[in-house]
Amino acid sequence: MSHHAKHLVLVLTFMLILPLACRASEADQGHPAKDGKGPAILLVTFGTSVPSAQAAFATIDKQVRAAFPQAEVRWAYTSKIIRKKLAKNGTVIDSPEMAMVRLMEDGYTQVAVQSLHMIPGAEFHEIHNNTKLFGQMAGGFAKVMVSPPLLVSDAAMDQVISAVSAQIVPKERRAEEAVVLMGHGTHHPSDAIYSALMYKMQQRDANMYIGTVEGHPTFAEVKAMLERKKIKKAYLIPFMTVAGDHALNDMAGEEPDSWKSQLAQAGIESVPVLKGLAEFDSIVALWIDNLKAVMNQMQ
Ligand code: CO
Repeated sequence: MSHHAKHLVLVLTFMLILPLACRASEADQGHPAKDGKGPAILLVTFGTSVPSAQAAFATIDKQVRAAFPQAEVRWAYTSKIIRKKLAKNGTVIDSPEMAMVRLMEDGYTQVAVQSLHMIPGAEFHEIHNNTKLFGQMAGGFAKVMVSPPLLVSDAAMDQVISAVSAQIVPKERRAEEAVVLMGHGTHHPSDAIYSALMYKMQQRDANMYIGTVEGHPTFAEVKAMLERKKIKKAYLIPFMTVAGDHALNDMAGEEPDSWKSQLAQAGIESVPVLKGLAEFDSIVALWIDNLKAVMNQMQ
């Protein structure tokens, strides 16, 4: 078991034991201890079952705790498939709704929910709507606030592009070599953000591209652009929270339909960078900035 995996298990064990301990002491006092508890932070991500990708979550956890030392920090995964897969191996991670129930049960009255997503897509809206509903229950939370994902404004896109260029693109990359980001993509209208991002990236760096797995721009469009520009080498970088299944298989895998294989067929050498955005301080700092704005409105 890796150091990070151990850390995660420790955190999760603590998360499971803590509620029981709190309930016991509250029962002793004969009334629910609703006062005196600082705001709680709920970090919500899609989740991953790839152990190396979970290292990214440990990094975020550490940085969030350092930024908000008074806050209770908890995690939730939106993916039911991943939660089930992890539960089979003894790692229990809550859905956002279950995490809200536990926070309410544990007597927290204010919750800041941080969506660790790239765009405000279907998952973000579900997290937003469902966690906000918990704020409407009688005798429940006094305040539930939802902090936005990364790409929610023109300025945020600029910051993300700067962070990617400065910290994620390998230093040895030359200007005539391409940087190709792999976004997830979605059927949700916010899919258009990826095209906006590519436009803005290319204003700064003509050989920066972004394709998506499930939306637009498609990889076929990006590949055609690379061929038109007679690109010889491309750095492939996952534009996702973690370097999980999409990065390992769809981007850098050996199957003939992976991005790496398709580029090789077109005579373009590719260098995959197998790190998720959450592994980079400069990106995590942007999520934390969003969270700070929300936490400033809590007592
Ligand atoms: Co996917």
